[in-house]
Amino acid sequence: MIHKHHVKFCKMIKNSMHGYPLNRMRRNRQSDWSRRLVCENNVLTSDLILPVFVMEGNNKIEPINSLPGVNRYTIDRVIEVAKECEDSGLPLIAIFPVIDSNLKTDHAEESYRADNLICRTVSEIKNKVSNIGVMTDVALDPYTSHGHDGILKNNVIANDETIEILIKQAINQCESGTDIIAPSDMMDGRVLKIREALESHNFQDKIIMSYAAKYASNYYGPFRDAIKSNKNLTGDKKTYQMDVANSNEALREAELDISEGADMVMVKPGLPYLDIIHKVKTYLKVPTFAYQVSGEYASLMAASMNGWIEYDDIIMETLLCFKRAGADGILTYAALDVAKKVSG
Ligand code: PBG
Repeated sequence: MIHKHHVKFCKMIKNSMHGYPLNRMRRNRQSDWSRRLVCENNVLTSDLILPVFVMEGNNKIEPINSLPGVNRYTIDRVIEVAKECEDSGLPLIAIFPVIDSNLKTDHAEESYRADNLICRTVSEIKNKVSNIGVMTDVALDPYTSHGHDGILKNNVIANDETIEILIKQAINQCESGTDIIAPSDMMDGRVLKIREALESHNFQDKIIMSYAAKYASNYYGPFRDAIKSNKNLTGDKKTYQMDVANSNEALREAELDISEGADMVMVKPGLPYLDIIHKVKTYLKVPTFAYQVSGEYASLMAASMNGWIEYDDIIMETLLCFKRAGADGILTYAALDVAKKVSG
């Protein structure tokens, strides 16, 4: 198969060897209008998803040191952000809670309390902002005293016991009105178990966007700072998040999640993992999303704050790269900045 393609490709190269001067690639690049005419990919506002951090309190906005330009908001201020997103044409926002440390426990009970921060936020947004989807993370890390995405038994993340809690968390979020459930925990079989629970609770229309290929990456540091889980985290997440060295495994992960009832899959981190996005999209042909994670955004922001690169231009370049690789949409902390510059 590969051999056949290779032979065909070599013939093509040979035939075009004498292309010049008949072929001049620069003709199409000579002016703005001709470049626009042959442009293969675009970034649209409908491609962009904004992650938003919510905290307890009233009328407060708190900057996040390691994510310049990104803030934690109290619920009333999240509503303003959600409205701005709606006005800018973003289809979806992803909400992440900052949980007070006295509510963090070994078994993450706060994650499924009916009136918890994330549920109150979701129902407020759903009441006050009509034309935007809301996505919520299903994972225990904001709620555990040890900062892991699952619960520990003899110092090991207990897969099946964790899923039992994730199910309660997911149902709880659905009851508050969330549109998309996003399991970001990387437990085995959690999509199937959550999907079954959604079916039996009459939530068959809830969408699942699974963090299917989520790597044990060093790019998540500022996010853990944002939700204040970094001080709690003991050890790393390598027994459940993927090995950075692996690629075929990502396909298996994504394929499994789809077969278990996920509607969309996500690859994370983003830019250093474009090969994975391309592979998933090419082979599985399912709605595929990328997360330009906190460490990626923070690096670009830090360089631009030093005057070494230009923020607007570099962000747009990265987003185009995601689209070129095959992403259907991108979660990015720059979503609102970019939405102001591009069209629907
Ligand atoms: C938690 C979660 C993480 C991110 C999204 N959901 C962090 C982690 O797995 O430690 C990272 C997002 C980012 O870095 O922007 N399950």
